[in-house]
Amino acid sequence: MEKHDLLIGIDLGTSRTSVVSSRGARVTFDSVVGFPRDVIGVRLLGSTYAVGDEAIDKNYLDLHYPLEDGVLKESGDHDQDTARKLLEYAIARAEPNEGERVCAIIGVPADASGVNQSRVLELVRDMVDVAMVTSEPFLVAFGLEKLINSIVIDVGAGTVDICGLKGGIPRSDDQTSITKAGDFIDGLLTKAISSRYPGAKLTKRLVKEIKEAHAFVGKPEQPVEVTLREGGKPVVVDITEEVRMACESIVPEILEYTEKLIAGFDPMDQPEALQNIILAGGGSKIAGLAQVVANGLSDYGDINVSCVKDVVYAGCDGALKLARELPPEYWSQIGATT
Ligand SMILES: Nc1ncnc2c1ncn2[C@@H]1O[C@H](COP(=O)(O)OP(=O)(O)OP(=O)(O)O)[C@@H](O)[C@H]1O
Ligand SMILES: [Mg+2]
Repeated sequence: MEKHDLLIGIDLGTSRTSVVSSRGARVTFDSVVGFPRDVIGVRLLGSTYAVGDEAIDKNYLDLHYPLEDGVLKESGDHDQDTARKLLEYAIARAEPNEGERVCAIIGVPADASGVNQSRVLELVRDMVDVAMVTSEPFLVAFGLEKLINSIVIDVGAGTVDICGLKGGIPRSDDQTSITKAGDFIDGLLTKAISSRYPGAKLTKRLVKEIKEAHAFVGKPEQPVEVTLREGGKPVVVDITEEVRMACESIVPEILEYTEKLIAGFDPMDQPEALQNIILAGGGSKIAGLAQVVANGLSDYGDINVSCVKDVVYAGCDGALKLARELPPEYWSQIGATT
């Protein structure tokens, strides 16, 4: 690292973006950009847009999430513009100084197509001096020093990314993205609660909060009882089964694809890989998930499934560690670079 380098690690997620820097910045915010609906909104906001948490809870803003299913949306110019604003904001939060060389490593979902990676690069080209885009689970593994014979299962909002680490940069057949992840659980949970309690008023936000407070798979530790509103009045409802069903819906594909990855390891290395299965991402907080995954793979022998300690920063901490250990001049060897 040169004296005037500012190194930045970014986890560009569908639901949250997190940023850390070599100068100690550590921030996380919703991956959202809000635009005022009219001139009054512009006045209220004091700006023509707001990013992240500054955009939340302001009902005079239209909210746009630039990512869907782990990749940048590309239906129109507006999407491009929102993505640019989100990335600009992420880099600004790392507080670069005049005259510094700004070097950023950006994690995107494992299987994000080459096209998605180059679009992210294209967007950051004029915001930083050197940038590399690489697989998010690889960065998680790098941060944990588990680069060989391990499997990272990153349970995000848009995608579950499963990646087998074999000592090098994961190749495309070492990784998969499944689009049944956190957002999918929210959708199922909304349907299940509405069908059992048709009068209950649900919003996306409320269902997500309920899930984050009570998510579990397997045996419930206690019944899930929450207060909803029916015709404005509070009612306490039991949604234990609904929460279990919604959370368990993502398990079969996680098992199926993890089994495929296991089969791709050299038989000599399989036992070690089975001891190093790591759950990451917000969804790794679903209670009982590690156990259910371990049980589902028990035919393979001794299994150890653990969860990363810091689900929010594991990816960008890995990115920063990589940026510190490998001079930017070498980045093109491990990911797409500007
Ligand atoms: N305690 C919790 N229990 C269950 N799910 C949770 C919990 N906390 C967060 N989540 C879910 O995790 C998801 C967000 O995880 P994360 O921040 O890793 O995703 P992301 O990186 O933004 O998405 P992606 O990796 O798909 O692009 C959301 O669906 C969120 O509701
Ligand atoms: Mg993620």
